[in-house]
Amino acid sequence: MRVEHHPILGISRKPDTYILFNGERIPAVTGEPIAAALLAAGVHNFRFTVKSHTARSVFCGIGRCNDCKMIVNGVPNIRTCVTPVQEGMTVETQYGLSRKEE
Ligand code: FES
Repeated sequence: MRVEHHPILGISRKPDTYILFNGERIPAVTGEPIAAALLAAGVHNFRFTVKSHTARSVFCGIGRCNDCKMIVNGVPNIRTCVTPVQEGMTVETQYGLSRKEE
């Protein structure tokens, strides 16, 4: 799910770090959007809505909607499509406005 080498654009990059998604280690490229790393790993449910508990994923991909919001390093409502990966950051699925109730 990831373009690691592009023959025309000259892009050549492979995962060089990781993020923790719901406690699971996922490979990522430093500086790429968190959403890109998650999609490359096959993750499609980023958050669940408050009222209907419907799953959401990337919609606009440019930071204009709310569908990719997740909890990043303990902070909710972070747009993962425009937030760059940093080594070892924690990313959690968001339920409504916070973590899922225990
Ligand atoms: S997908 Fe729309 S803000 Fe991230």
